[in-house]
Amino acid sequence: MADSNTKPPNNTSNTISTENDFVQQFRNAAPYINAFRNQTFVIYFSGDVLADNEFPSLVHDITLLNSLGVKLVLVHGARSQIEKRLKTLGIKSNYVQGLRVTDNETMQVIKEASGCIRLNIEALFSTSLKYTPMAGSQINIISSNYIIAKPKGIIDGIDYLHTGNIRKIDTQSIRHSLNAGDVVLLSPVGYSTTGEIFNLNGEDLATLSSINLNADKLIFIDDSSGIFNTNNELLHDLTVNELNNIINSRNKIANDVKRHYQRIVHACSSGVDRIHIIDRNKDGALLLELFTQDGIGTLISTDHLEDIRNAGIEDVNGIIELIKPLEESGQLVKRSRERLETEIDNFYVIERENQIIGCGALYKNSNKKQAEIACMAIAEEYQSQGRGEKIFSHLCKEAKENQLEQVFILTTHATHWFIDHGFTKKTLKELPSEKQALYNYQRNSAVYIKEL
Ligand SMILES: CC(C)(COP(=O)(O)OP(=O)(O)OC[C@H]1O[C@@H](n2cnc3c(N)ncnc32)[C@H](O)[C@@H]1OP(=O)(O)O)[C@@H](O)C(=O)NCCC(=O)NCCS
Repeated sequence: MADSNTKPPNNTSNTISTENDFVQQFRNAAPYINAFRNQTFVIYFSGDVLADNEFPSLVHDITLLNSLGVKLVLVHGARSQIEKRLKTLGIKSNYVQGLRVTDNETMQVIKEASGCIRLNIEALFSTSLKYTPMAGSQINIISSNYIIAKPKGIIDGIDYLHTGNIRKIDTQSIRHSLNAGDVVLLSPVGYSTTGEIFNLNGEDLATLSSINLNADKLIFIDDSSGIFNTNNELLHDLTVNELNNIINSRNKIANDVKRHYQRIVHACSSGVDRIHIIDRNKDGALLLELFTQDGIGTLISTDHLEDIRNAGIEDVNGIIELIKPLEESGQLVKRSRERLETEIDNFYVIERENQIIGCGALYKNSNKKQAEIACMAIAEEYQSQGRGEKIFSHLCKEAKENQLEQVFILTTHATHWFIDHGFTKKTLKELPSEKQALYNYQRNSAVYIKEL
């Protein structure tokens, strides 16, 4: 039972329909919790996010990440606050090529807006009221002169005045604060060695910070819910190459969107492996994106999220989780943990975000001609999307590379799947003698063979 001081607010129970759902969701989140501990995430949120009523909830979620041992650098935008103030004061900004020319008056407004935002964020992180998600939290949020800037300069005859570029990020001091368990807050302003203040682009600052800090994730929270295909369907994950193709192949792509995609490609190509785009309008979006298998936004990664690889002893638990329901329903023959541990070198797995979602095994036999394909399984929610085919092709390729001529399978439930993949029904006699000797007559599996 939860301690009364740390009891979550009542509304939490409304969003979790049953106790079982809660337990299952919590268990599903466990691999992510373990994987994220000590990782560094850079999170950018636009000025609009700060003005949202849900911003305190986002702060709660960020606090939760901090308590799970994630090292956090927050970068805030301030565009909407700056625009609002400029409008009130009747100051018109001059934009050239989408970039603001920051004169003295505008710079004053930027300083005020950034200072105000920083204070508000610090205040929110200081709350620790009982019976709220912040109960018991004590987080230091640190801002400092971490960013050294230089003037953008005069381009094509236009002097951009106080608009700056990032010259250096004091990663050593930032790391020092992160290692002490503090959350680092960066505002989109930088200081020059001459003591001037420069206006910076927040998204660029987040991107460069993530690269220089060698961050594990860069997360953008703003108005976009992610990247969509041409049928207007949300793409949950894509590789940096796929994003590059989108940039190069789509004609109707707005300049600012294109710049943002190029920023993401730059971060990915510079070693930030995972970049997320999350919708600011959805409550709990950050947690849903990070702790559920498919997330709710778009994840852009350097490589494909799912790779087939040889299994190791560390995968035994994941394989057991995957095949247990299939063993219970009789679709797969029961294997003990000991057997799996002994035979693990024969297994291949598909891993997605630290979870085993598919497996298959290839057993070579003494006759050096045939190999057995066994224990092919794809997690139910991932079936019928080509993964079975993918793992099967991998097993066949492996068998061919070992100069084998045939693969065979003993199956009770998936005969037609194997027929579709070129297998024909055979008799027990056509199997290697040691396999014949071990045949389970009670199970009465059908024998299918495929020529390679
Ligand atoms: C068999 C299995 C590995 C296929 O994986 P998958 O990722 O769903 O397969 P794919 O996406 O490559 O292929 C999907 C196609 O196979 C069909 N299919 C899936 N299971 C099937 C079965 N048992 N019998 C016949 N066809 C089947 C699907 O209907 C789908 O057909 P469609 O493309 O015409 O819609 C998966 O269904 C599974 O884990 N089954 C339970 C364990 C099992 O029986 N393993 C085989 C014995 S070792």
